Amino acid sequence: MRFSALVERIAGEGADAWVTHYEARRAHERGENVILLSVGDPDFDTPQPVRERAIECIRAGDTHYTPASGRLPLREAIAALHSARSGCAVGADQVVVLAGAQNALFASSLCLAGPGDEVIAVEPMYPTYPATIEASGARMVRVPAPAANGFRIDLDALERAITPRTRALFFATPSNPTGVITSEAELARLGELARRHSLWIVADEVYAGLAPGGRVPSLAAAMSDRVITVGSLSKSHAMTGWRAGWIVGPREFAVHVESLVMCMLFGLPGFVQEAALTALGIAPAAEAQVRDYCGSRREFLLAQLQGAKGLHCFTPEAGMFMLIDVRATGLSGFQFMRGLYESEGVSVLDGGAFGTQTGGFVRVCFAAEEDVLREACVRIRRFAASLPANY
Ligand SMILES: Cc1ncc(COP(=O)(O)O)c(C=O)c1O
Repeated sequence: MRFSALVERIAGEGADAWVTHYEARRAHERGENVILLSVGDPDFDTPQPVRERAIECIRAGDTHYTPASGRLPLREAIAALHSARSGCAVGADQVVVLAGAQNALFASSLCLAGPGDEVIAVEPMYPTYPATIEASGARMVRVPAPAANGFRIDLDALERAITPRTRALFFATPSNPTGVITSEAELARLGELARRHSLWIVADEVYAGLAPGGRVPSLAAAMSDRVITVGSLSKSHAMTGWRAGWIVGPREFAVHVESLVMCMLFGLPGFVQEAALTALGIAPAAEAQVRDYCGSRREFLLAQLQGAKGLHCFTPEAGMFMLIDVRATGLSGFQFMRGLYESEGVSVLDGGAFGTQTGGFVRVCFAAEEDVLREACVRIRRFAASLPANY
């Protein structure tokens, strides 16, 4: 039997990136002495009031269909959060509630580009981006944010990459895996290019709540006709499993996403939406808690790995990940990941999963308890010291 051409475009690198992680998770579940620092899932619980609200709603029978684009009070709360973060006043009719930022990225991709089009994405990028973008039939064009440039976008390369076929630019700020926040100056140049070439800008702000002050510089206010902002509660509220996210953009765009939702998702569960509303109600405190947690773990990890043989940490501006440059060990990120897992049982992610710019790096998630991080660092140092490289 035959499958569609789509199946080729959605298989591949995004899926492969997680093989070691899944192996480690199975080992962990079997009770083996394995440390998982390979996935961006905060190591603490969703806030209690959020969980309580969901339970209360289930008990009250809130288990039926909901409006496809999301309940009005939730869309109003998201609009208010977006306005506060970006300075761009939006209405609830410009918001669509989706199953996480991933679902929002997918909806953007399908509504903005198609066969024959090109979509630019900044590399390193979250491993789902290639399949998400190419699912639309468009070709993804990579623009580097090179290690030698502190993982900041090469804006000249970006300008050169734009062709008459280019429809949109996707990037994450703060970035996963680098933790770099796109600056006002970078956004100004990016916005100028988008205006000149009539491009959509898709800003993936899933980590915005973890940035200093809970917000990142945004083009949404300056270019409200072409900026699409993607967000979710996954990271800011330790709610990865709830699949509660959203998209904010021009009304016309939201209408198209609503049509897509009608044939794709058909609305999030009501109890998830009510819990999400509770989460947004406590957002400043919840986000501050995650930020403090991640900030202290970042400093802890940097201190624990200071002077480790052949390893250089890249300090993130925000988020829950740190890239470790392993090039001096003579290993690639993939080899280091495999070797570390096989000899020490520590699961990190190969930087190559995010593209060629990070092929000599591994990504460590530091949203974990200090004891876990301490033990992981002992093992990482021991593994690095055991390598026979000339450094
Ligand atoms: C940059 C980036 N975008 C999107 C997502 C997906 O987030 P969500 O859980 O909201 O779908 C992630 C998850 O790690 C991410 O790192």
